[in-house]
Amino acid sequence: MYFAGLISGTQRLSPTPAMASFQAILTDIFGAAFAHCGFERRFGQVVISQRPDLCQFQCNGALAVSKAARQNPREIAARVVDTVGSREELSHMSIAGPGFININLAPSFLAAHLRDVARDPRCGTPAGVIPGKVVIDYGGPNVAKPMHVGHLRNAIIGQCFSNLFGFLGSPVVSDNHLGDWGTQMGMLICALAEMHPELPYFDAGSRGPYPGQPPVSIEELEAIYPEANRRCKADPEAMARAQKATVELQNGRPGYVALWKYFVDVSVERLKADFEKLGVAFDRWLGESFYQKRMEDLVARLKKQGLAKESEGALVLPVSRDGDTREIPPLMLMKSDGAFLYGTSDLATLEFRMQEFNPSEIIYVVDIRQSLHFEQVFRAARRAGIVPESVRLEHAGFGTVNGPDGRPFKTREGDVMQLGDLLDMVYARAYERMVEAGVAQDRPEDEKRDIARKVGLAALRFADLQNHRTSDYVFDIEKFLQFEGKTGPYLLYSAVRIKSILRNAAEKRLSPGEIAAPQSDAEQNLMLALGHLPASVRTAADTLAPNVLCDWAYGLAQQFNRFYRDCHVLREKDARRQGSWLALIRLALDELTLALGLLGMEIPDRM
Ligand code: ARG
Repeated sequence: MYFAGLISGTQRLSPTPAMASFQAILTDIFGAAFAHCGFERRFGQVVISQRPDLCQFQCNGALAVSKAARQNPREIAARVVDTVGSREELSHMSIAGPGFININLAPSFLAAHLRDVARDPRCGTPAGVIPGKVVIDYGGPNVAKPMHVGHLRNAIIGQCFSNLFGFLGSPVVSDNHLGDWGTQMGMLICALAEMHPELPYFDAGSRGPYPGQPPVSIEELEAIYPEANRRCKADPEAMARAQKATVELQNGRPGYVALWKYFVDVSVERLKADFEKLGVAFDRWLGESFYQKRMEDLVARLKKQGLAKESEGALVLPVSRDGDTREIPPLMLMKSDGAFLYGTSDLATLEFRMQEFNPSEIIYVVDIRQSLHFEQVFRAARRAGIVPESVRLEHAGFGTVNGPDGRPFKTREGDVMQLGDLLDMVYARAYERMVEAGVAQDRPEDEKRDIARKVGLAALRFADLQNHRTSDYVFDIEKFLQFEGKTGPYLLYSAVRIKSILRNAAEKRLSPGEIAAPQSDAEQNLMLALGHLPASVRTAADTLAPNVLCDWAYGLAQQFNRFYRDCHVLREKDARRQGSWLALIRLALDELTLALGLLGMEIPDRM
């Protein structure tokens, strides 16, 4: 089973694919039959069978319709089956249990369909099915806070959405919404003022100029921050000083702004290097600071419109609604000291994104623990008329990466491991695993390094994406790097195996021929899996669930490996069969390349 049926109802994508998937074709046929029998078309929904040992597809609409129609579901099913009659697409229909319709495709239809898919550079997956531009907010790094294992998730999931929507034909804008304007800035300013009070940045009367060199390196900054943070959390007076400095920064005090610019510059340099190591990029790096002027204007306007209200000295925007089953507190816009907050910048960001990009959807790939924040921001944006109902706002939250002890992942020394170090560790371990498993040992050294990087990245990406994004998972690099089982390296290995078979075939002057009807179970199962790619791409995008595509890719790799065990492609005597088999594995490679590419995994040429 590749995934549990089509999850419908979200309608992110328009429902008119260019080349229909098996389910779409069958759903059409059965929808028409239900309509012919006097029921609604939607009862003809066909899904991939949960019991592949019994049948390939199922339609369970007779049961759904029987209650309202007050008729026996088996009789309804029988009438529908009768109405469908014999068709070239189908080999077999039967009624099971209380009224399920079991369906198998005709082998000749299976082959004809895959011939079309094989001719299509998109492997049957339609483009242009998304209504407009999509803004994806992911990465979410912060100045002076080193990225850690948790940031893998924002980056990996966000990039996957960006690939998916781009592939489906939407213009995509990726933006990492750099955290560069909050209280942590005031904390750093105060900490540095204490260490080096002689520096010109702290002279309240000074208007510059300031030294051309940053006063701190990124390493120093990263060391200062946790200490400053601890201190402010423990000491209310230190916190008050940090908050005051933050407000002064936000109001443009020249020395603080100059200092802040250095903090941002040295941090961004480090962040860019880490993201690059991870193979992740963004179209925009618009930090929270970018929105300062917009926050001022927005808050003034909301005040004038009477939407913003005073509450205990602060300014808030109430967002509760009639019928709320839990309390949704108001969104904080401005503290009593005049400082703007995280939510204020998110609201101003929405206003900017609407004007600048005019998207049909904005997706936030952010830790699921921020769901209340996004609920408040989204409601505020609707209430203030910043984002119309027609534009979809989605918080695609994700769970936590834990260590083997079930707590957030740490190093053996108990520190939070920095992302860059973690990636170096993963690539080094991937290299060792290749030695242990005898993978790519005949390749030159620099190629082995390159393969290790691809294997390491695939291991991380697949381990992350194969879980539903809302679940937590345990960071277990030994497991992720296995060449067997449901892992990234297994998938790369399978794809490379196909490349090598095709190279051997080419050396023997054998080339793919015309795909023919299957003659064995292994062949038929591989062909079915090859036909399911478009539906899994669609479901993954529609429900923001890359795990669906991971399941498909793993299922396909398994079917390929079973097929290759049974069908000795290179030794087959019947030239037409051999040509068909080569065409099937060529298609398997094309589809895997496409799917793994969407998941952010790169397939080496050899391993
Ligand atoms: N920097 C934030 C954090 O560390 C994440 C930003 C997410 N994006 C947003 N638009 N709020 O929590």
